[in-house]
Amino acid sequence: SFPMEASPHKDFLQCLSLSSNDSTSISNVIYTRNSSSYSSVLESRIRNLRFNSTDTPKPLVIVTPSRTSHFQATIYCARKHGLQIRIRSGGHDYEGLSYVAKVPFVVVDLVNFRSVDVDAENRVAWVQAGAILGEVYYRIAEKSRTLAFAGGIYYTIGVGGYISGGGFGSLFRKYGTAGDNVIDAQFIDVNGRILDRKSMGEDLFWAIRGGGGGSFGIVLAWKLTLVPVPATVTAFTVSRTLEQNATQLILQWQDIAHQLPDEMNPGVSMFSVNSTQDGRKTILASFNSLFLGTIDELLPIMQQRFPELGLSRQDCSEMSWIESILYFNQIQNQPLEILLNRTFRNPVGGQYYKIKSDYVKEPISETALNGLFSRLSDEEASSAIIIFMAYGGIMDRIPEDATPFPHRAGNLYKIYYNVNWPEEENVNAQKYIDWARRVYSYMTPFVSKFPREAYANYRDLDIGSNNVEYTSYAQAKIWGRKYFRNNFNRLVQVKTKIDPENFFKHEQSVPPFLYNV
Ligand code: FDA
Repeated sequence: SFPMEASPHKDFLQCLSLSSNDSTSISNVIYTRNSSSYSSVLESRIRNLRFNSTDTPKPLVIVTPSRTSHFQATIYCARKHGLQIRIRSGGHDYEGLSYVAKVPFVVVDLVNFRSVDVDAENRVAWVQAGAILGEVYYRIAEKSRTLAFAGGIYYTIGVGGYISGGGFGSLFRKYGTAGDNVIDAQFIDVNGRILDRKSMGEDLFWAIRGGGGGSFGIVLAWKLTLVPVPATVTAFTVSRTLEQNATQLILQWQDIAHQLPDEMNPGVSMFSVNSTQDGRKTILASFNSLFLGTIDELLPIMQQRFPELGLSRQDCSEMSWIESILYFNQIQNQPLEILLNRTFRNPVGGQYYKIKSDYVKEPISETALNGLFSRLSDEEASSAIIIFMAYGGIMDRIPEDATPFPHRAGNLYKIYYNVNWPEEENVNAQKYIDWARRVYSYMTPFVSKFPREAYANYRDLDIGSNNVEYTSYAQAKIWGRKYFRNNFNRLVQVKTKIDPENFFKHEQSVPPFLYNV
């Protein structure tokens, strides 16, 4: 049914069987459209079901390498036969770039590359890129409850994509981004060379820890620094509606949150709800944070810094750090083994979604906030969620060029906009996406400018993208400076060295300076 594509695809498969010195084993990890498990392998890591429709372009072949020679053969044969590669670890890319392309392509899925090797004594771990964050946390907790990795809450995220784009999580005001906590890596380049930190050099090692996935080559594994956490930590949630003074609390939060102790990660989630009193629409603002300490240590801090929030003992729960991952996923009564469940879908938020992000450097006014709330009350936003996540802490002290992730000093908080819709509404997806664009446009005067910054891991193709063929530096710079500010130039230089012909590419991959296509 794909006559145009049949030939490169056949040549590619033949090349794979010839170039792998162990052809029986590579045949076990290849899925073509004729394979009975092609769809289940493809769909098992499509996290945004917006990209799982019948008209979504599908890969010709999926390869799930189980040894490094499989990666080498796949890269070699894809280059030879003009197929693009999309690399997939956890499949959480918000625009589906790890499994959707407009040209004939092959998905390299790292599901079989996911060992996690924790050395608690030396506080390091080697983690293969196909592992999910939950697996990393679980294996650390098996050895120690007072060690952690500075990773995200949502635990089905793959470490391959997550660390490649920076990596924000509940420990980031204390220990920085996930990329800040990587000390070595195993990486395969366009020529099939397997490199580590020493052999790749500091420029490439810098680039892969935040410069965005899918641009430079394939990360096979990361060596992570594990960080100390107290045996007892505290998590709290305080929810207030507009009638309960939410607006004033958010306005105050903007001034206070970024100055709270590094041991906290204050956030406020906002969504539209029906008031329990009169059934009319209102906004619920949910203030929450992790605190690396006990309730008794936390309460006086909050009483002194943010008394208006009225945080009480009842709002707080004590637990171990790994249990706080369950708490913030709202599954605190589950056994820790749930963290190993790669197919778990968080009941919070939909499975069809569009997201956007912003950075805020000056507190926004009450009028601005009211305008945001009024848009959150729109019909399209009935299950939308907007989250402010406080910056400050160590983020103010790590230089902007330490890694490609540039959003350091000077940011009060980041905004995450998520609009999502149920399956039956997917035919009307555009209506919801348009809502997100309208809100984004409304927010223009209140957020960062020149460039209007965005977080690379919250991928958003609206802010600019590459062409299918040649993309000039000037064009890529439009989205590149938003994600990476002044680090974008250095990323382009690294790319020019490691992959001058731009084999590893997608809609927002870093282009080399000059190449012939
Ligand atoms: P996926 O496999 O889709 O890869 C993402 C990108 O990286 C693609 O371009 C892909 O080609 C590339 N890539 C993947 N593996 C690679 C490898 N081994 N080598 C080179 N390139 C590779 N972020 C955050 O910082 N904090 C958070 O709390 C959250 N929370 C969150 C919740 C939910 C529900 C979603 C869907 C997403 C997030 N994110 C997030 C964003 C997340 O960090 C981002 O989508 C990551 O890129 C996901 O990494 P995956 O490996 O899962 O994605």
